[in-house]
Amino acid sequence: MAGNWKMYKTPAETHAFFEAFKPLVASDSRCDIVICPPFPDLHAAIKEADGSNVAIGAQNLYWGREGAVTGEVSGHMLQAVGCRYVIIAHSERRQYFGESEADVVRKAEAALEFELTPVICVGERLEERESGRTDEVLAEQFDGGIAPLSPDQFAKIVIAYEPVWAIGTGKTATPQIAADAHGFIRRRVNAKFGPDAANAVRILYGGSVKPDNVKNLMAEEEIDGALVGGASLDAKSFAAIVSF
Ligand code: PGA
Repeated sequence: MAGNWKMYKTPAETHAFFEAFKPLVASDSRCDIVICPPFPDLHAAIKEADGSNVAIGAQNLYWGREGAVTGEVSGHMLQAVGCRYVIIAHSERRQYFGESEADVVRKAEAALEFELTPVICVGERLEERESGRTDEVLAEQFDGGIAPLSPDQFAKIVIAYEPVWAIGTGKTATPQIAADAHGFIRRRVNAKFGPDAANAVRILYGGSVKPDNVKNLMAEEEIDGALVGGASLDAKSFAAIVSF
């Protein structure tokens, strides 16, 4: 269960979140719990999460170890500060910053080089779904951004299916819509990396996951977890999602 804070919270707000959140999930051992705050909050979050069952991730990275790349942050830096995960190609990055499938591959490889687990996002936009192109878009994103990884690299990634029309809109995909998309992605994994990889890969659903809809989504065998935006900002609501 991963929370994506996007561009919300200061270090002081991060501290307050963890004070409230840690005791609520302390006894939960069913799932891996990850919070992905903005870069300036990482230090505070890692300090707060130290010794707890919560891991910290970043929301983006740049490939390479260091260099003249103003405004970017490398996997090496994220590893050094104590991050364990990194979100790659969130639809907001694809949409506002033009991230391409080639970027996904470079970023995933850079993350793995520095022992960060990449959470690679895929998902169709509303007009793509309405014109019946969902599978085609997912196939393009998988083939361009994920299939080029080696089997060893693939074994270390997490995939997040996030239909763009469901993100921040309050319009959750029905469990069936989400499960169908997950099934499509898993078949693609099977074709490229084989049945063991398809069985083992974790595919998270993201898009308006809330405490009151998480149970139905998680009842689908295809859905292995959730990537949660808005509802991860509040300690009680994210704790309710974690312990659905
Ligand atoms: P949301 O965001 O839960 O606010 O819809 C999900 C995401 O963008 O990861």
